[in-house]
Amino acid sequence: MAKKIQAIRGMHDILPEQTRLWQLMEAHMRGVMGRYGYSEIRMPIVEVTELFKRSIGEVTDIVEKEMYSFEDRNGDGLTLRPEGTAGCVRAVIENGLLDQPRRLWYQGPMFRHERPQKGRYRQFQQIGLEVFGLAGPDIDQEVILLTARLWQELGLEGLELQLNTLGTPEERSHYRAELVSYLRDHFEQLDGESRRRLETNPLRILDTKNPALGGLVADAPTLLQRLGGESRAHFDSLCAGLDACGVPYRINPRLVRGLDYYSRTVFEWVTDRLGAQGTVCAGGRYDGLVQQLGGRTTPAIGFAMGLERLVALLEEQGFGDDRAPLDAYLVTLGAAARQRGLKLAEELRDKLPQLRLLSHCGGGSFKAQFKKADRSGARFALILGEGELERGVAGVKPLREGGEQQEIALDDLTVFLKNAL
Ligand code: HAM
Repeated sequence: MAKKIQAIRGMHDILPEQTRLWQLMEAHMRGVMGRYGYSEIRMPIVEVTELFKRSIGEVTDIVEKEMYSFEDRNGDGLTLRPEGTAGCVRAVIENGLLDQPRRLWYQGPMFRHERPQKGRYRQFQQIGLEVFGLAGPDIDQEVILLTARLWQELGLEGLELQLNTLGTPEERSHYRAELVSYLRDHFEQLDGESRRRLETNPLRILDTKNPALGGLVADAPTLLQRLGGESRAHFDSLCAGLDACGVPYRINPRLVRGLDYYSRTVFEWVTDRLGAQGTVCAGGRYDGLVQQLGGRTTPAIGFAMGLERLVALLEEQGFGDDRAPLDAYLVTLGAAARQRGLKLAEELRDKLPQLRLLSHCGGGSFKAQFKKADRSGARFALILGEGELERGVAGVKPLREGGEQQEIALDDLTVFLKNAL
């Protein structure tokens, strides 16, 4: 036998028995975003590498060690997108969409060469949303309220909203100097990673997973204490708005995010039910990015959700697909019945557009076909043999809820199924 080829580590098939839950969740999300007036945008999966370097930041984990970058046949440096914001910003600038405020969303695979573990993959799916041209804090509030509605309508429980502000670039750079000086005073306590970050990206030290640094980080000065008046008012107004709408949150001064483009509001929805990879949705404001990528100064905010994690959470809460996958499975015996059966199936599909009907193909004994009908999960088996054909009827046998097989005239089958489903 030829050697089997396997999927790439950290990249998974989503199998037929899982896709229905994915579809339900995605349809729900599309529905909610549509109801808030957001439109879909679709960007390429591959972009020039420089786009990600200039937006996510040269000294972030993503750009330093996680990108799938390669040279194409022209020698151009390209990268499989590790996230959607950069491409979305490129697209709105390039297509002249910044003439008015825009509310956009997108969905698709993202690629990061991280160490795979539960909830962390090298190809994963995001649904993301980006708003351009609105300075907030009202839109910050709307975006967060939208996410809260997503969870509420999906019936997801146990998610905590964490909120922080990263101020303006000036506020952050003053704070950064103060933080570096505080950390230098405790240099001997820092681990190797933090010592390296002290030079490159000191705010990320606040996000350390090393428990030995817990006390040091907890006592560090926070940016929240150093905000200027406007940033403070922006953040307070957002908090007051969330209070007024009854959306609980926890202010986490150490929430810094792993991408460099953020300013002011940042947030994450986190659960403790998925182990180490508990952030299911994350985002924030990035008022400088459009200009940084060559567009005119445009405030912006957005977030992205990790769909594998949300599906895992739904499964963990016992959401399965409890709807029967098929309404009916058509069993036919003999060449004449097979022909009539395929035609009957088309007639039923014409009259009942919602009907989920599978016509058996490939022949086989009545018993073998019936077994397949049963395994298919369909609610009814429709049976057409030579005898039924002569009498102008179909046998109808309920497969789930018990009950006797009965004969229904072919002319009455539509009405019967309509009432039964
Ligand atoms: P991010 O925090 O890098 O932000 O990713 C957003 C979400 O994608 C995470 O919270 C997580 O649920 C999911 N995710 C990230 N990496 C992985 C992975 N390796 N495996 C599975 N799921 C993952 C962004 O991507 C920003 N573009 C969000 C944003 C939009 N900010 C403003 N607008």
